[in-house]
Amino acid sequence: MNSQSLVSHLLRNFFNFFQSWLIPVKLFLLLLQPETQGAVMAPPWADPKLNPCATQPRGWQLLFWPPDGKCYRIFKIGHPCPEGMELSPMTTKPDKQLSAECRCPPQTAQSARDGKCYGLFSLGNCAVGYYFGPDKQYKSANSKRQWGVCKQLKPCVSSSWIYWPKTERCYQKFTRGPCIKGQLLTVDQESKIPACRCDDREELNEYRHVNGQCYQHFTKGPCQEKGHLFLPDRTCGCHSFLPHFHENSQQCFELESIGPCAQGQTYQLHSETRRASCHCRPHYIPYQNATACYRPYTRGPCPLNHILINTTTCIEQPCQRGHLYFPAEDRCFRIGSRGPCPKDLVVSFDFNTRPSVDGVSYNGVCTCRNKDCDVESAVTVRCDRSKGLVRYSNECHKMYTQGPCPRGSWLVPGRQGKEELYTDSGGEERQAACECIPGYLRTVRTSEDKSVTVCLSPTVALAEYSGRNVTSVAQVLRVK
Ligand SMILES: *[C@@H]1O[C@H](CO)[C@@H](O)[C@H](O)[C@H]1NC(C)=O
Ligand SMILES: *[C@@H]1O[C@H](CO)[C@@H](O)[C@H](O)[C@H]1NC(C)=O
Ligand SMILES: *[C@@H]1O[C@H](CO)[C@@H](O)[C@H](O)[C@H]1NC(C)=O
Repeated sequence: MNSQSLVSHLLRNFFNFFQSWLIPVKLFLLLLQPETQGAVMAPPWADPKLNPCATQPRGWQLLFWPPDGKCYRIFKIGHPCPEGMELSPMTTKPDKQLSAECRCPPQTAQSARDGKCYGLFSLGNCAVGYYFGPDKQYKSANSKRQWGVCKQLKPCVSSSWIYWPKTERCYQKFTRGPCIKGQLLTVDQESKIPACRCDDREELNEYRHVNGQCYQHFTKGPCQEKGHLFLPDRTCGCHSFLPHFHENSQQCFELESIGPCAQGQTYQLHSETRRASCHCRPHYIPYQNATACYRPYTRGPCPLNHILINTTTCIEQPCQRGHLYFPAEDRCFRIGSRGPCPKDLVVSFDFNTRPSVDGVSYNGVCTCRNKDCDVESAVTVRCDRSKGLVRYSNECHKMYTQGPCPRGSWLVPGRQGKEELYTDSGGEERQAACECIPGYLRTVRTSEDKSVTVCLSPTVALAEYSGRNVTSVAQVLRVK
């Protein structure tokens, strides 16, 4: 943000809040102290030489509108601008003369099709399947006008993932994704535009806590008490039958979080025992008997000026300044040189390490010299195991989430020879199966001459035992 747009941003906030009762003189003086304040400069529209309206009372709030020769309040929405547009200061380039133009308010942009303003990343005036996004190609030297165009919503690996145009990434539906805490990612039914929401419509309702906010199940969510998780019955709690249960502390922790674990570890579900325990994060290694895990080629547990190269050995830091280590070659290469890299690639830092957490990494990797040789995008077709994705019904889903499974069940890696295995196993990808969440009771019952399996929640299972009618609550897991 340059200083003028910073000033106009600050002013906009002032005007919105203090409109009538602010003491204008004070602000005016404040704005006229550019030398002492450094970053804060008087906006050009406070200068009577440039802005004819600046001589009027509160003139620094006014902009001259050439078509009718009148003064109007800055950032006024509507007349003299078309409906929905605001009067904004504009400097004409060669003579630096100040004038005004009608622009779309922040977070909106103008459509070249009808000239109107629409919210960025909304449907705007686009067809379903598209969104109204910023037009980055068109820029004018004189104007800060923001243009928008219709862009196609990109597909994700599966229908339970949602493309979020602002970050150009896919996130799983009903997860927090890019949303603020308390909202989950969904798609607007009518416009098909991705949205962060928490309303009490059917789909999101099962994620809604009494505080009116929505959280993913089995996350910390709204839970205050240490070791409690937000459960599918929409309460906070912890039960020993949950895979999230930690014996030593008698508490429950989110999977894939640090939970009760040491540095460099996450709380991971073991696929055989279906209980969580502490393991090294992917790409981290333990050192001898230490419980913590470290990123190789950082100092980790080693003495000063040493780096950890495997689970048993620290070596002296081998590289000169500006060089990085390549284990396969057992030597260092200069950053930005080709080094041992294939054609078009150069030696670069390993940006997967986080210096503030892991320490400085001496691991050299090969990356593209130019951005355009990096073709990997958010939209990939393989279900990446390292990201915890599994394949189910020919789509990628995150393990241990409900995904496409019925209530009371979740996706687990499929196992050979087990009844739960739905799909053929094969390749590098894990095939998934729906299985009752531990604690949910798996029962087989007959419905319309078909045998169906349902997962009953602990409370429902209890009710069933005490003879109440629960068929409307239980759902079909599998139809033979
Ligand atoms: C690791 O454990 C072995 C055997 O329990 C012990 O001899 C060794 O000293 C331990 N090493 C460290 C670094 O604690
Ligand atoms: C670790 O690296 C050292 C030195 O290269 C080697 O002698 C040792 O066998 C390695 N240990 C393991 C577990 O790979
Ligand atoms: C159980 O509930 C279902 C659905 O609400 C209803 O159709 C059925 O008649 C009930 N059965 C009994 C035994 O109450």
